Amino acid sequence: MNPPSDKRLLEPARIDPTGQDEAYCNRFGDIYYSRAGGFEEKHHVFVAGNGLPDRFANGTVTRVLEFGFGTGLSFLVTAQALLQTTNPNHGGPELHFFSIEKHPLSREDMLRLVSPWPVLHALAEELADQWPDLVPGFHRRNLAGGRITLTLVFGDVAQVLPQITGPFDAFFLDGFSPGLNTDMWSDSVFRHLPRLSAPGARVATYSSARSVADGLAAVGFQISHLPGYGAKKTMLTGVLSPSSVPHPTPRPSWDQRSPVVVIGAGVAGLTTARALARRGIAVQVFDSAEDLGAGGSGNAAGIVCPLISMDWSELSQLTAFGLGYLRADLARLQGADVTPGGCFSGVIQLARDARHQARQSLIADTLRLDPEFARWLSADALSVMGGVPVTQPGWFFPRAGWLIPGDYLQALADHPLIELKLGIPIAQIIPQDASWQGLDTDGHHQFESGCVVLANADALGDFLPEIGEYITACRGQVSVSTRQNARTGLDISMPMMREGYGLDLPDGRRVFGASFKPGDQTLVIRMSEQLENGERLAAINPELCRSLEAVSHWQARVALRATTPDRLPFVGRVESKITETSTSPLLYVNAGHGSRGFTWCGLLAESLAAEILGEPSPLPTSLRVALEPTRFARREARRRASLSIKGRAPATD
Ligand SMILES: Cc1cc2nc3c(=O)[nH]c(=O)nc-3n(C[C@H](O)[C@H](O)[C@H](O)COP(=O)(O)OP(=O)(O)OC[C@H]3O[C@@H](n4cnc5c(N)ncnc54)[C@H](O)[C@@H]3O)c2cc1C
Ligand SMILES: C[S@@+](CC[C@H](N)C(=O)[O-])C[C@H]1O[C@@H](n2cnc3c(N)ncnc32)[C@H](O)[C@@H]1O
Repeated sequence: MNPPSDKRLLEPARIDPTGQDEAYCNRFGDIYYSRAGGFEEKHHVFVAGNGLPDRFANGTVTRVLEFGFGTGLSFLVTAQALLQTTNPNHGGPELHFFSIEKHPLSREDMLRLVSPWPVLHALAEELADQWPDLVPGFHRRNLAGGRITLTLVFGDVAQVLPQITGPFDAFFLDGFSPGLNTDMWSDSVFRHLPRLSAPGARVATYSSARSVADGLAAVGFQISHLPGYGAKKTMLTGVLSPSSVPHPTPRPSWDQRSPVVVIGAGVAGLTTARALARRGIAVQVFDSAEDLGAGGSGNAAGIVCPLISMDWSELSQLTAFGLGYLRADLARLQGADVTPGGCFSGVIQLARDARHQARQSLIADTLRLDPEFARWLSADALSVMGGVPVTQPGWFFPRAGWLIPGDYLQALADHPLIELKLGIPIAQIIPQDASWQGLDTDGHHQFESGCVVLANADALGDFLPEIGEYITACRGQVSVSTRQNARTGLDISMPMMREGYGLDLPDGRRVFGASFKPGDQTLVIRMSEQLENGERLAAINPELCRSLEAVSHWQARVALRATTPDRLPFVGRVESKITETSTSPLLYVNAGHGSRGFTWCGLLAESLAAEILGEPSPLPTSLRVALEPTRFARREARRRASLSIKGRAPATD
């Protein structure tokens, strides 16, 4: 086997805590913030330089893109300036702060480097509690009771900038000195700014370098020189001239006097409702069942963990970003009446066989992931971690975990702007002028809304057959039995996965499974699948199965997964045949979550809410495109078109 090439995913910052000047970065030979006073410097240059105090005082929603997150000081100073203002009308995020960082600091270094300013401590602690895993990509967090969203984008500016969508009102150029770090100040970086700008967008930087002023002027900023901070005589600010502001395609809008309607009260529907309600939008959620979680979202437990791939595929990105978002969001739902049960202190994924082991250990050697995110460990080490002797090496994901889906759904629904309409099957949605009319199976009118989200899993085809034909319902049976620990003393201390998984709940039940039967939509419990689940559990360690009740006493739940050909969900706007009129009401899809809905639905709901409301997206463009609901239908149409050009009939005709 060839030695692994060095594809290390991310190179974190190295701060020497014993160094004279901790805010000095050896890698670039420059400082993160001014020695004369970092707080005042960031406020003077970026907050005041971009005119943000006025925007905050007026309650204007502000979208910032920063180049170089570093210690997080600029972010914290900006957030503090916002939080000082009281905006009684606020019904959602007032500050969307995006920041690009190639070499992220650890949580501890961030806290230490901002510690000189007590006024920032509370927010810095809140950020530290939900500090992202050190893996590349987009990490979305909600702070300050929802007044602020932070999207940390870990990666090189040249690679990630094309993946960001605007619009932004202010740019913070804070990428070390242009002379020491040309990458952050190149013309190709500046060329993105107009594309990302809202009308009147402003830019500010501590630098007064001629090349920076010229570069910004060349892309359309009207530049001013202002007094700098500390030893800096001057700094630059700029306003994008109206002729350089791009003409965006008008954002679809709807009459917000009627609530958004979500069809389906599983995890996809309720995370969507919550993301909209968090933004001050009223939502009605319809479900044919009388209770929440009647479909795939009603199992006894859901495991939430990343999927690692050599090419850091879309599935890897979505599971990693989704896990981080969920973990942070769950903690923020704790104030709800139901505190979601679960635990995020690790998940073990064992190698299934020799081939799987060789491949996964090669990936581990090559990517050298942050050990707080994923470690490849020996069987002995995993046996100690998991509390169960195992014979295979595998992954240990220290910050992955599990949750109780029922609790999570209840907590999501517990919001004054969310109205649950349970026991009402929606049979038709009919466009009429700019609204959807929703009818139930008896033909009774149930709603009128200008914006509908279909979150009805494997039943999506009932409304959109052209997308639904790419969803396969896939039966899954999960087994549950009481542990008889007195006999063997084996407790699984964290979820363990191999072909299947085993998880011990605090109430004494062991949950294990699950069968995977594509195309099978039967919902009866089968003894054959109980036995299969027993085998999956025994493959982790045979004692785990022996220490259960007799198989005839095991319980089970069967549900359907809605799977897609590429295992990625369908999330986004649909302009389907039924909506192609000039005053079309809006239709969105959030379905096809397969086996990972709990892992990523929270983040995807943020993405959908951002799309509906025209906010900068919390997902990279490539990932959003990969989730487009009509991707297979469009591919098929292209295939057919190319065959007909070549004069051949498509094979299916
Ligand atoms: C056995 C099994 C184990 C799993 N384990 C995990 C796991 O460990 N981790 C993980 O992340 N994921 C797991 N999943 C996947 C996860 O459960 C799903 O991805 C997720 O539940 C999908 O959520 P959803 O909201 O899209 O669908 P659902 O939860 O199925 O919700 C769809 C809802 O739409 C309603 N509906 C449908 N049509 C209509 C209509 N016309 N009108 C009104 N209501 C309608 C249904 O009643 C249903 O409540 C598992 C799935 C299964 C089956
Ligand atoms: C001056 S510091 C930013 C200070 C920061 N705003 C703060 O408040 O601490 C510059 C940052 O840019 C990051 N950086 C340098 N080159 C980069 C690149 N090519 N892409 C993304 N980030 C980069 C550095 O790692 C560093 O954290």
